[in-house]
Amino acid sequence: MGSTDASLKIKNQINPKLCFIALSCIVFVIVLSITYICMEHVTWDYSSSYPTFKISDTVEEIRYFESIMTEHDPFDVNFQIWLENKDMHVNPTHDGSRALCRTRTKPLRCPANNVIECLKISVVGLCGRWATKLRSLPAEISCPGLKNTKVLLDHVDKTKAIQEAHIVLFSFVASYLNLDIWLKLGFYRSPGQMWVLQTEESPIYARGLMMPWFFRNDTYNISNTYHTRADIHSPYGYYEPFRNEKSNPAVNLTKVIEEKKNFIIWISSHCETLQWDRTKLVHDLQRVTKVDIFGKCGNISICGDKWETTCSLNVDKIVRSYKFSLALENSCCEDYVTEKLWHTLSIGTVPIVIGPQIENYKKLAPPGSFIHVDQFDSVESLKDYLEYLDSNDTAYLEYFKWKESGIVREHSIKEHYQNHLSDDVICAIAEQYFKRRSSPTEFKMFDLYGPEWKGTCHYCGNHNWIRNYEHPLDHKRRNKGIWA
Ligand SMILES: *[C@@H]1O[C@H](CO)[C@@H](O)[C@H](O)[C@H]1NC(C)=O
Ligand SMILES: *[C@@H]1O[C@H](CO)[C@@H](O)[C@H](O)[C@H]1NC(C)=O
Ligand SMILES: *[C@@H]1O[C@H](CO)[C@@H](O)[C@H](O)[C@H]1NC(C)=O
Ligand SMILES: *[C@@H]1O[C@H](CO)[C@@H](O)[C@H](O)[C@H]1NC(C)=O
Ligand SMILES: *[C@@H]1O[C@H](CO)[C@@H](O)[C@H](O)[C@H]1NC(C)=O
Repeated sequence: MGSTDASLKIKNQINPKLCFIALSCIVFVIVLSITYICMEHVTWDYSSSYPTFKISDTVEEIRYFESIMTEHDPFDVNFQIWLENKDMHVNPTHDGSRALCRTRTKPLRCPANNVIECLKISVVGLCGRWATKLRSLPAEISCPGLKNTKVLLDHVDKTKAIQEAHIVLFSFVASYLNLDIWLKLGFYRSPGQMWVLQTEESPIYARGLMMPWFFRNDTYNISNTYHTRADIHSPYGYYEPFRNEKSNPAVNLTKVIEEKKNFIIWISSHCETLQWDRTKLVHDLQRVTKVDIFGKCGNISICGDKWETTCSLNVDKIVRSYKFSLALENSCCEDYVTEKLWHTLSIGTVPIVIGPQIENYKKLAPPGSFIHVDQFDSVESLKDYLEYLDSNDTAYLEYFKWKESGIVREHSIKEHYQNHLSDDVICAIAEQYFKRRSSPTEFKMFDLYGPEWKGTCHYCGNHNWIRNYEHPLDHKRRNKGIWA
């Protein structure tokens, strides 16, 4: 009773002016803290333009950058703003919207008493829901090869938070890290800290992980990509020949032919790709022969509006009913062979590919399992060959001969993404760290601008008719998001 009376009394005494001032103060504090959080969090820049690799790496320009860097305090805010506006090889455009990468995950600390060795690994990148979707973080991992080491894995959203980590993973950055963030990350990098490039995307799509040209020899110690020469290799799939030739399961070729009721299928929802216009190629093929286009880029919907678990099984069934499936990669880069190839092969349909060059596919895919568009002089001769195979079962079934000598292993796309944060990969990274720490001069840095990354992307074909589908360097995209 007494307390109700007291509160009533207080209410009656409230001064509207005071109230207004107090409220303003609260709003001010909230705005201030939001601004603070925004400034400290990793900021992303979405670009609407084709992320070209046109890097003006003249000696003059590098000298110029070097002189700026030595004459100014790189952590001065005004300097950073000025620098960003200089458009120094990063952020080719600034017209994009900005989004924040934030997480609600708690950071982990190595215990102060170092009874056992403790390794802290922090992830940057993994925007929004991705941060916890792929693996629940933080996590403590025990590595079979590192018996007396505690391995902690967490996700950080503030540049400053990388200070305590032994290893920083730059993971799944599909858009742009800006110069400001690179400078800050460099500032907070602790001595000996190992930086790891992790991506399942090609250099063309992993543009956001590209460090400023100036830092290219000083950023990533190692890479974890699909590329066969990566320090830690995470392929989308691979061909595994049988060890014992006699254990071959017989392939029922009669059944294969019976299932094939349809001709060519293309399933795609990303219609505007960065390096080349695959949609146009499919439309050109459609002009001369029958191609059924499923997904957003066509007029046949696969699963309606909702993606259900049973849907992917249905899609597999649809694909299996086709003789050929267009497995067109979004980029033409060495070893960039995705589930588009592996899944088509494991379903039991012949993939028609564009991506890396023929020799590269021959190295990775089962022998005689695919048709590369670059084998043909024109879209008509491609069509003629496909129609010939359609009319000659013996010739068509030759594309299934490999099944007698091996098997295709593949990850689902989700598993492939999760793979970067899996125990196996984290432990492999931890082992590399100890190897490098014990002999630091023995290892080279991973240069994204060098032949081992940027240099792996090339033309989509040796034939001019295929190159004509490639976008010019100054190509402007219709869509803002790179995943259109
Ligand atoms: C990683 O690279 C940085 C910059 O070159 C270097 O200072 C550091 O010692 C390296 N760390 C390891 C573990 O190799
Ligand atoms: C970086 O490395 C490349 C090749 O290894 C070398 O040519 C270049 O001079 C280096 N640049 C800097 C800024 O150290
Ligand atoms: C192969 O498949 C066909 C059609 O499904 C079936 O009739 C036949 O019995 C199968 N042959 C073998 C050896 O399993
Ligand atoms: C899709 O488009 C193709 C070619 O324009 C046409 O032949 C076909 O009938 C269409 N299919 C559907 C389901 O609308
Ligand atoms: C069908 O393909 C087989 C195997 O490639 C070939 O030997 C045969 O001559 C072809 N038949 C016709 C009618 O083209």
